[in-house]
Amino acid sequence: MSRPRTPVIGGNWKMNTNTESSRALAEAVGEGCRSIDGVEVFVCPPFPYLRRVGGALKDAGGGVALAAQDVWHEPDGAFTGEVSAAMLLDCGVSMVLTGHSERRHVIGEDDGLINKKTIAALNAGLSVVLCIGETLDQREKGETDAVNERQLRAGLNGVTPEQMASVIVAYEPVWAIGTGKTATPEDAQDAHTKIRDVIGDLYGADIAAATRIQYGGSVKPGNAAELFSRPDIDGGLIGGASLKADDFLAIIRSATG
Ligand code: PGA
Repeated sequence: MSRPRTPVIGGNWKMNTNTESSRALAEAVGEGCRSIDGVEVFVCPPFPYLRRVGGALKDAGGGVALAAQDVWHEPDGAFTGEVSAAMLLDCGVSMVLTGHSERRHVIGEDDGLINKKTIAALNAGLSVVLCIGETLDQREKGETDAVNERQLRAGLNGVTPEQMASVIVAYEPVWAIGTGKTATPEDAQDAHTKIRDVIGDLYGADIAAATRIQYGGSVKPGNAAELFSRPDIDGGLIGGASLKADDFLAIIRSATG
């Protein structure tokens, strides 16, 4: 089966690993990716390990991109604890997540802030993985598509058609993240189709057809292939299973399908 879009798999390490384990994990993933074609891969280590992980990925030679988990939208100044897009670029980062559900629901970021981060990152030349998804309560009320549409329109507000080439959308139902519960491939495909329709409404059919939409939420080696076989699921954003090189590589291989 030939796919219209190159699948993309991301490993979101969240607040895990240390100096040594981040290096070892990067090395193993990079080496494993040397023999895998037809899928793009990135990993998001914690900020303190970005440079080291970037070096290990480069040495391993598997073409794995270095991504950050977050960014602040101002270029510099009095923003204690924050990290700018220019600082990320300076550390060799080429991609960044915005709108991850833990930033929305644990840290309290809203659509406005997520939009500012998305714009700042794109304007600086970073690619962005814009994460969206409904909570369990919203799903039970039948609001899944409305929530996705609202988060997508708000997150992409002001993003130009040209910049859409540097945007990946990650659909991650909040109730599926880190819980062991996964959306069924049918439910995920249905959400992805609707998300693609919204992108089409905003940017036209060609850009909608070219934009990668990842699924995230308890993706494991055992369920990845079935999810990725659906026509509008262009890979995945992986949390827990990305911390074990063997599991992550198995998930990456299942996207080559
Ligand atoms: P999970 O996390 O794979 O551990 O559910 C996914 C994510 O948060 O991106």
